[in-house]
Amino acid sequence: MTKFRTGSHDFPVTDQLSAFMRTGWLDSTLEPALDDVAPWAARRRARVASALGRRIAVAAGTFKQRANDQDYRFRADSNYVWLTGDQSSDGVVVIEADGESTLYLRPRSPRDTGEFYQDRRYGELWAGRRATLGETSARLGIATRHLDAFEGEVTSDDEFEAVLSELRLVKDEWEIAQLEDAVAITTRGFEDVVRAMPQRLGERHLEGVFWQRARLEGNDVGYHSIVASGAHAATLHWIDNDGPLRDGDLLLLDAGVENRNLYTADVTRVLPISGRFTPLQRDLYELCRAANDAALETLKPGRPYRDFHRAAMTVLANGLGDLGVLPCPVEEALQTGVYRRWTLCGSGHMLGLDLHDCGKARASEYLDGTLAENHVLTVEPGIYFQPDDGLIPPELRGMGFRIEEDILITSSGYRILSDGLPRTAADVEAWMSKL
Ligand code: GLY
Ligand code: MN
Repeated sequence: MTKFRTGSHDFPVTDQLSAFMRTGWLDSTLEPALDDVAPWAARRRARVASALGRRIAVAAGTFKQRANDQDYRFRADSNYVWLTGDQSSDGVVVIEADGESTLYLRPRSPRDTGEFYQDRRYGELWAGRRATLGETSARLGIATRHLDAFEGEVTSDDEFEAVLSELRLVKDEWEIAQLEDAVAITTRGFEDVVRAMPQRLGERHLEGVFWQRARLEGNDVGYHSIVASGAHAATLHWIDNDGPLRDGDLLLLDAGVENRNLYTADVTRVLPISGRFTPLQRDLYELCRAANDAALETLKPGRPYRDFHRAAMTVLANGLGDLGVLPCPVEEALQTGVYRRWTLCGSGHMLGLDLHDCGKARASEYLDGTLAENHVLTVEPGIYFQPDDGLIPPELRGMGFRIEEDILITSSGYRILSDGLPRTAADVEAWMSKL
């Protein structure tokens, strides 16, 4: 019997091997510099403490099984990352009512047990070197203790979740730089995809091309990439990505890189696979862009969050009216919502460490709240025509359009973070032809 996570076919360790493995290791302690996230994380902990005024504990979480003895790659809880800057598994940060904080960690495997060479999940020779308590303390500027010394339980409650989400709504300067980084890598990923399109190897190939950029420069993709050619674009979260690329069809690409500090971009573009839009595709694309323009125009501090969605939907409903598909006058469609048969979802969401960031915020602070400087959000109205929709002309069936921008709210309005990618139909064509 062993207490380590060994494999079912690992050879038993003899007493001689066990004794031998404990000897002869050189000192390899590191002296890391203070990470630039450290003062920001300290400020965030102080804000949480003053908002809640009681002791809290937030856990990084642990590994999730994928199949049999294989785990998913670990990704730490977003609140934990926000409060500590740490990304390692199994940690717990305890913040006292006065803001004093301790990070409880599973540190580097010691050399006086078999963990370091026997444990497949935590052993240094299996999974890589974890930081020592001293190293993490020096890097993140926080007191550290061994996880075994943590007493108590990490529980969650609605108030705590809401306060954390609401504190995360306004991004600090360091976070904005992270989001800019994520968007910049995402832009290069989109360029890679356009360069790979002429190979016509299908949606799955393009998913892989984007993922390669995400792994090369970032941590991963922030969500499964939606690589939707032809009628797949009418499925909002098409992630099977098993379709072909056909000349004359469109490709809807919704993808975002999660950077090394775990902030994600979330960008969508619609690309003509042949490089040129047909006249109908261009008109519908430009309708979508006009809706996006109208949404952007509303964005500034103090404006109700719901305004940009309303502005976008007014443009789209009028466009659907012009196409002759609405069953009633536009005003009535807007009132009853029947136009939503073709718009399906909201026009955006907050963005940050999570794709749908700050999701636990109370409605009064998010959906029914107002925009503030340094909010970061997506604007992504779209129109979707299902291939089996008998109420629309055949030429519309099986098309989906969405342009999604990542936006920073500034003191006087907004800045498009994703402006490294083309926006108009003409600019999309010119960009594709240049690449
Ligand atoms: N881009 C994926 C989403 O917003 O749900
Ligand atoms: Mn989105």
